[in-house]
Amino acid sequence: MRYIPRMPRNRYSARVLRLCGVPIVLAALAAPAGGAAPDPAAMERGAAIYRGGTCPVCHHWEGQGNRRGPDLTDDEWLHGDGSLAAVRTAIETGFRHGAGRRFRGKYEMWPLGGMELDESDVDALTAYVWSLHRRRRAADTLTREVVSRIAFGSGADQDRSQPVWDTVLALRPQLTLMLGNSVLAGTVDMRELRLQYDKLAAKPGFSELRRQSRLMATWNDLDFGREDGGADFDKRAESQQVFLDFWNEPPGSPRRQQQGIYTSQRFGPPGRRLQVILLDTRYGRGPIWQVSPDEARRRQLLGMGPYLPNDHERARMLSEEQWRWLDQQLRQPADLRLIATSIPFVMEFTGWESWANMPNERQRLIELIRDTGAAGVLLLSGDTPWADVSRLEGEVPYPLWDFNSGSLNRRGMVGIGPNRHRVGTPTAEPNFGYMEIDWTAADPTIRIELRSIANRSLLRQIVRLSELQPK
Ligand code: HEC
Repeated sequence: MRYIPRMPRNRYSARVLRLCGVPIVLAALAAPAGGAAPDPAAMERGAAIYRGGTCPVCHHWEGQGNRRGPDLTDDEWLHGDGSLAAVRTAIETGFRHGAGRRFRGKYEMWPLGGMELDESDVDALTAYVWSLHRRRRAADTLTREVVSRIAFGSGADQDRSQPVWDTVLALRPQLTLMLGNSVLAGTVDMRELRLQYDKLAAKPGFSELRRQSRLMATWNDLDFGREDGGADFDKRAESQQVFLDFWNEPPGSPRRQQQGIYTSQRFGPPGRRLQVILLDTRYGRGPIWQVSPDEARRRQLLGMGPYLPNDHERARMLSEEQWRWLDQQLRQPADLRLIATSIPFVMEFTGWESWANMPNERQRLIELIRDTGAAGVLLLSGDTPWADVSRLEGEVPYPLWDFNSGSLNRRGMVGIGPNRHRVGTPTAEPNFGYMEIDWTAADPTIRIELRSIANRSLLRQIVRLSELQPK
């Protein structure tokens, strides 16, 4: 890279930048006319200059802004019209001596953020910053529909009948969340994986649900490919495309470019706004630890699995990229947020796959919820072959509920394991989740149930939105 920062990187502390008196040499630069859209290579180079430079100190890593500088990804421009030329002028001249509008007097921006850049660097940086709000607009997934009926579930054996869909259909869910293992494929052969998906597509109830309900899906290990697999699965990129093909993701979607299938969507107007966040607990997941075979056999008697908590500081459930993305999602305005994770989050300790196997990552999500101030979070999870409701109290800003549903058409084969956050009586009967939100109440109520295939309520909880606010 050819740009030369004025100061060594480790001195870009907030304190130095806030109102630093260091004289900055500004290269004299001519502003070009903002004609055609810049090319992607320039944007990419601009992104590197942005991240390697001072900009993140005040505008955050992806331009989302912080308390020192404004959001560069939204459609609101404090200066100019958001055109290439206006963005370039802002970067070149900066905002000093009270020239800022919102941050006037408090925080200033030096010309070029205090960096020394040549003309082509400024072109690239301008291109990147300009692209930020367009990218966000393209990815903005806010729809006006008010969603109040949601079904969810995990684990569907494609080689058996699936009467569950008729029961689900009768409840007329507007949205159905597939939490993983939608096919129990467990294969590294991508052709084979597609064949298993074909079996699911051929189920009449499922295809009817596809017509009547909006479906959003994440994956678990068996539709990812390798049983209990993670980042070490070498076909993960191919598997991602197979998954996205089956779930009808459009060709240009960001979900096809990123590493992993995490996604989010928001529904409804302020006051009735639902955010659905689907995590990918596979693509970037690091190794998990196991007990000895002897110990595993002993655990079986208790209904427990073979896994041990991996408390290594580098143990990863989500990739860093996904963590950054999740941080942004949790800062978007929403009243109720459903975080769907293919494996249980709160449940502890079963020895099966769960976030408890990576205690640092589990804590990281708790802290992220606290630090972003995100209200209204409920967790939905799958994998574990029994219906279970868990509630975590204590270090969290408000009680964290986790509703685990599994499986959709097969009785659990293992015993029901211990869970010290359990609320109510778990059951291994096949089940699905169903949620109804009464948005009309002054304090909206959310009724969440785990229901049997015969539509009997197995576990049931009513949560008020006011109970999900940070204290
Ligand atoms: C020391 C903090 C700081 C740094 C470093 C900084 N900025 Fe800024 N930036 C600001 C402030 C403050 C404003 C003006 C906000 C206002 O009007 O109150 C601003 C405004 C902008 C704007 C105009 C936004 C609008 O809404 O019109 C752009 C574009 C911008 N900065 C890009 C950058 C880029 C690119 C870099 C890195 C080269 C950078 N900034 C570095 C603090 C900073």
